[in-house]
Amino acid sequence: MAHRILVAGCGYTGTALAVRLAAEGHRVWGLRRTAGAVAPGVETLSADLLDAGLGARVPEEIDRVFYTAAADDGSEEAYRAAYVEALDRLLGVLEARGGPRPRVLFTSSTSVHHQRDGSAVDEDSPTQPEGHRGRIMLEAEARLARSPLETVALRLGGIYGPGRTRFIEAVRSGRARRTRGAPRYTNRIHRDDAAGALAHLAALPAPRPLYLGVDDDPAERDEVLSWLAARLGMPPPPDEEPGPGPHDAGKRCSNARLRASGYVFRYPDFRAGYGALIDASDASGPGS
Ligand SMILES: NC(=O)c1ccc[n+]([C@@H]2O[C@H](COP(=O)([O-])OP(=O)(O)OC[C@H]3O[C@@H](n4cnc5c(N)ncnc54)[C@H](OP(=O)(O)O)[C@@H]3O)[C@@H](O)[C@H]2O)c1
Repeated sequence: MAHRILVAGCGYTGTALAVRLAAEGHRVWGLRRTAGAVAPGVETLSADLLDAGLGARVPEEIDRVFYTAAADDGSEEAYRAAYVEALDRLLGVLEARGGPRPRVLFTSSTSVHHQRDGSAVDEDSPTQPEGHRGRIMLEAEARLARSPLETVALRLGGIYGPGRTRFIEAVRSGRARRTRGAPRYTNRIHRDDAAGALAHLAALPAPRPLYLGVDDDPAERDEVLSWLAARLGMPPPPDEEPGPGPHDAGKRCSNARLRASGYVFRYPDFRAGYGALIDASDASGPGS
């Protein structure tokens, strides 16, 4: 069935999602503040989600909404603007409308989970984040849960993919350091799987309200760095002493619920995802 879809916040993930949905035959509007076309096949809405006149800009009879806008920076003010005020404004517009009730899918973050002892985390694990980023994301999830609309939050791990290759660049440049003996788990998802999982949840007959969006392998950071060095034909990154203070071992987020819903990952772990990115940069020749 073809949907009328709004992607609110067409940046790295939102644009990939909008392009994918348009290619599947849906009518897609992509919203962001920046002027200029989002991508071929996507109808562009240049608008600010915080604008009091937002309602007049949102097309009628939208039945799927993806909220993929992100804060302009890491400050509490920017987080509150993007995830509380702008989300509340868009939900208010949608809730006030008659006609078909859209399903709203929101990109939350694994930062809502405070665990630092390397423990396993799923959707039922406690969330007591210390920092404002996690707390504000929880506030956003709570607003979503209060909505009379059908809503889904997908808590994404670190998004990587074309143009977001921080780990690869750190190893390539020789800047990467391992902290042997002090494991730290990392949780990630390839951009195309973030977009794929969102599209999948939008199409499910009856999704749950909450999913973790991470790949199969919450790998230790040192393991990722060592693997990347080997894959790039470089020596393993040097070791350094862990910093002072209590060690942050991170958490191991599980994607079991997302997988059980039927989502099949294109890049199930960092080897598949980073391997494809390294192959693509090799294929595009020196200087890429
Ligand atoms: N990146 C990660 O590793 C990560 C991890 C966990 C969760 N997430 C979540 O996943 C989502 C997508 O992340 P991303 O990295 O793909 O984001 P991104 O590349 O930073 O894109 C976000 C987009 O939102 C738009 N935007 C921000 N404020 C807006 C406003 N007031 N009105 C209209 N558009 C607005 C921006 O476009 P303009 O500047 O043109 O308006 C930008 O293109 C976000 O919700 C983020 O919180 C990301």
